[in-house]
Amino acid sequence: MEQLMRNFFLYLSKSKTLTKLARKYGLRFGAGRFVAGETIQQAVSVIKDLNKKGLSVTIDYLGEFIDTEAEANEMADNSIEAIRAIGSQALDSQLSLKMTSMGLDISDELVLNNMRRILDVAKENDVFVTIDMEDYERCGKTLEIFKKLRSEYDNVGTVIQSYLYRTVSDIEDLNQYSPNLRLVKGAYKESPEVAYPDKKDVDENLKKIIKMHLLNGNYTAVASHDDAMIEYTKHLVEEHNIPRDQFEFQMLYGIREERQLELVKEGYKMRVYVPYGTDWYGYFMRRLAERPANVAFVLKGTFGK
Ligand code: FDA
Repeated sequence: MEQLMRNFFLYLSKSKTLTKLARKYGLRFGAGRFVAGETIQQAVSVIKDLNKKGLSVTIDYLGEFIDTEAEANEMADNSIEAIRAIGSQALDSQLSLKMTSMGLDISDELVLNNMRRILDVAKENDVFVTIDMEDYERCGKTLEIFKKLRSEYDNVGTVIQSYLYRTVSDIEDLNQYSPNLRLVKGAYKESPEVAYPDKKDVDENLKKIIKMHLLNGNYTAVASHDDAMIEYTKHLVEEHNIPRDQFEFQMLYGIREERQLELVKEGYKMRVYVPYGTDWYGYFMRRLAERPANVAFVLKGTFGK
């Protein structure tokens, strides 16, 4: 049943028609629990609240199904606006973005152009930028773009997903760039030809790459709500005397807020991924796919009053 629901929401997340409808009608159906608002001003006010509680942030201007150059340029402009807001208000926040929103499906030249514009402003404002990882089809291309940018900039990182078979060799290959990586399980629907179908294998592989990347001496963001992954990391860093400024935990806005604060209290760096913008639909559907309890929450919020 859980697998069926997961597939259903992942299928819905790819609907262009529903994405457009959602854009038109604003944050609905409980999406506000996971999305900080539709404007940069709303996002800034959420970041300030989180920062006050000792939480660091990475913000993401949401955007999916970008298929014109003008849209990709506009997405880049919005990310630049976000970076300037972070810099001018001295917020404790990084930026996250997706290569498809920068024009990955249009041309490499467009993506590189937009990314260089963003990374230049980010550098001036001392803001770190993480390239989110999307579906398998785009993984190789995204990593190639990352490598190119990493050799020009030191304020850029990316994401590696433990559900892919290629992951361990990607970690090995990327090591020469000493990259700052966010390690996750993976959020898209992938075929068993390219990704572990069994959750147990995905979990084991996440532990494996956390260990590899940390012991390689690289900065590691462990992005998971799973206590097993968090406890594993805590033991690992203790065992190998890895300093606290070489790693951090990350969670999504609206998920396990108490656990986030507990980790801050324990002295760990904890970063919250805060999405905002009118294109909340696909992001919201992927969160529903991850956890049936989120669906119950949404139904209660929508119908249960
Ligand atoms: P998983 O979903 O396997 O859950 C394991 C356990 O965690 C649960 O059994 C429960 O104990 C606990 N848990 C989970 N959710 C909970 C909740 N709401 N309340 C209480 N307990 C809960 N993916 C991707 O493909 N590309 C990307 O770029 C990113 N980026 C990214 C950034 C950040 C900051 C995060 C946290 C995640 C991503 N992801 C991602 C998503 C990631 O790949 C994955 O889909 C989700 O994090 C869900 O997997 P978890 O590791 O959190 O645990």
